[in-house]
Amino acid sequence: MSLNIVRYENGNGIGLVLISNPPVNALSAEVVAGLRKAVDIFEADTSAKALVLHCEGRTFVAGGDIANFETPNFDTRPFSSLLSRLDESPRPVVATLHGTVLGGGLELAMSCHHRLALPDTRLGMPEVKLGLLPGSQGTQRLPRLVGVPLALDLMLTGRFISAQDALAAGILDEIASDDSLALGIAAAERLAEANLPVRRSSTLNVSADAATRQALAEATARAAKKPNYPALGAIVRAVEAAVNLPFSDGEEMEAREFDQLRLSSTSRALRHLFFAERTAARIPGLSREGAAREVHSVGIVGAGTMGGGIAMNFANVGIPVVLVEATDEALKRGLSVVRNNYEASAAKGKLSKEEVEKRMSLLNGSLDYGSLASCDLVVEAVFEDFYIKKDVCARLGQICKKGAIIATNTSTLDVDLLAEATGRPADVVGMHFFSPANVMRLVEVVRGARTAPDVLTTAMRLARRIGKVPVVSGVCYGFIGNRMLDPYIREMEFLLLEGAEPQQIDNAIESLGMAMGPCRMSDLSGVDIGAKVVNGRLEAGELPPDPSYRVVVRKLFALGRCGQKTKAGYYRYDGRTPLPDPKIVDICADLAREHGIARRRDIKDQEIIERLMYPLINEGIQILDEGIAYRPGDIDVVWTAGYGFPDYRGGPMFMADQIGLSEIKNTLDHYARMRGNQFGYWTASRLLESLAATGQRISAWTKQ
Ligand code: 3HC
Ligand code: NAI
Repeated sequence: MSLNIVRYENGNGIGLVLISNPPVNALSAEVVAGLRKAVDIFEADTSAKALVLHCEGRTFVAGGDIANFETPNFDTRPFSSLLSRLDESPRPVVATLHGTVLGGGLELAMSCHHRLALPDTRLGMPEVKLGLLPGSQGTQRLPRLVGVPLALDLMLTGRFISAQDALAAGILDEIASDDSLALGIAAAERLAEANLPVRRSSTLNVSADAATRQALAEATARAAKKPNYPALGAIVRAVEAAVNLPFSDGEEMEAREFDQLRLSSTSRALRHLFFAERTAARIPGLSREGAAREVHSVGIVGAGTMGGGIAMNFANVGIPVVLVEATDEALKRGLSVVRNNYEASAAKGKLSKEEVEKRMSLLNGSLDYGSLASCDLVVEAVFEDFYIKKDVCARLGQICKKGAIIATNTSTLDVDLLAEATGRPADVVGMHFFSPANVMRLVEVVRGARTAPDVLTTAMRLARRIGKVPVVSGVCYGFIGNRMLDPYIREMEFLLLEGAEPQQIDNAIESLGMAMGPCRMSDLSGVDIGAKVVNGRLEAGELPPDPSYRVVVRKLFALGRCGQKTKAGYYRYDGRTPLPDPKIVDICADLAREHGIARRRDIKDQEIIERLMYPLINEGIQILDEGIAYRPGDIDVVWTAGYGFPDYRGGPMFMADQIGLSEIKNTLDHYARMRGNQFGYWTASRLLESLAATGQRISAWTKQ
């Protein structure tokens, strides 16, 4: 009942509205209804001299309820008119803030006449991250309170600011040392006593000075460069309205823009990802409050590209790390790369010099595996070689203390076999970080056949603690992401053999919004790495019996064209700039001849997109059917957080529904006819087939 979620009390002549809608006091329809009722009561309660708005629990209102935006006739206007009633109240209205005051929460606060906050409160307008603009007067009030340049900055980036910065900027009137409610009531009494006209943010003037004009011009230009994020332009237009139009006209324009954005494919995709990222943290069958192991110290074996980056993640949150290497030289190199990374951040002003030293002091190098004995969790990040890893895992099984977790960062090897090698498989989990490990948000947490539930839970919570987005994957070649990458790269190579050039393939894929096309990506991650994986799988008998499978990568590797690091791969390089290389055309033409593949001149961008993306989607659906990924949203998170898939398309599963599953199925059939299907490359997954036949969506699918 709304009155339980929102309560009205009158204590000694001060009206008090208490909101209690855990976990984050989001503005659900019930909260808005409850608020309306409470304001009705306050308006009729002539014995109340002032009103205080306060939230129970961990935060003041953290925004509109994002799930509500799916309701067909959702409208921000009812909430906005409630805010106008608070704003227009002749009696003072005070907001007491704590936690994260975001979006509709900040809009609610700004409609009050006085705002005070606890010192660790953070405030922001993150609607843009959902493809929206603040839809309840925020675009009109914030510029009036802080000026256009800062208002645009906050709304266009969605970044949070501290209470101290908000006070300096004019969003807050006071910082409360503690007990914000008592201080809020005191402020309300003071204001009522003073009997002065209240300060309404709606009536403040927006400065239209040179800085305002410049900020608007720059924001307009930046928004124009990102047409896939229509909220950017809408925010600028709404702020322009705040400068040029009366409050009520600006408010109406903002509401119209919100309506349009809410229905846009970008916002739908971003909202989907908001919930998908959070849902991914849940492990079916395990309670969210379930037991986990304590992790106060971490060991890392191997201080190479990945080990160093992984270590930084832990040091960044104050967890001490022991880095163990095979040689002194490798250890020194590893630690110096980490230091250089931190110093580069310091040079950009992102980190203080003291912070660099503090983080470095948490990293201790060693050549002695014995120094891992006291660690709560050890991540192995040594060479991707099964026998080396098996040996390292066996040693860790002996050395690590009882109850310590052993995590492997392998990208392609069998986590279950490595787990067995430790002699304590229940303690083993995969933690597959992505390169650069200190930057990329994704961690695939690989659940082995015998991984203990508390080990899985610990890995998930730890990943969240270091700011990552964890997604659980079962054990299979490549886990979720690299397994889906396999058919994508396969088709990239076949298209090269048939006559497409790397730049055409990359351009076509980048036109979809992928951060990088597959040829550039392969050059960056290393043709040698890709070729070694293919060669290893060939030796293990894991490849399809197709002599032309992945011949390009193997040939380039044999020619020493390892990508950017050797200045030649699918491209040649001028520094880091890829340039078309005629030699690639010759290499591919020779390989095509060798394998009896006809060269064509009619390869269109649409074919490239279909041949790369549809088998990738098909593999994703197959992975769901096999239970390797728990949910379609998990796959979308993997691709958007780890592989540069455009967030405005929501991920490959979300995109599949936009394209239509039957369209995808028919297109796979088309290529099966056109290319032949001897090796099953175009066979639709059973699940895709059945969903396409019954007109269902993959995003809505759950495993029975
Ligand atoms: N609506 C609905 N649910 C929300 C929500 C919101 N605005 N904000 C958080 N939640 C839910 C999450 O889905 C999660 O649910 P779950 O536990 O069932 O998975 C739970 O609250 C806790 O969220 P987090 O796991 O993210 O908790 P954190 O402590 O890490 O972060 C937070 C808290 C900073 C508030 C973060 O959740 C966040 O950034 N939320 C989004 C805030 C936002 O975008 N607000 C603007 C909304 S749009 C709006 O206000 C429109 C208005 O202008 C009209
Ligand atoms: P790397 O070659 O940069 O580093 C490996 C390090 O391990 C080297 O410094 C080496 O000296 C050290 N090492 C080797 N044997 C050792 C031993 N027995 N004891 C202690 N140290 C030892 O390799 P990279 O790229 O860091 O890869 C490490 C792991 O991370 C591999 O499993 C790889 O598949 C995985 N990975 C790599 C990604 C990448 O993009 N580089 C992405 C995701 C995972």
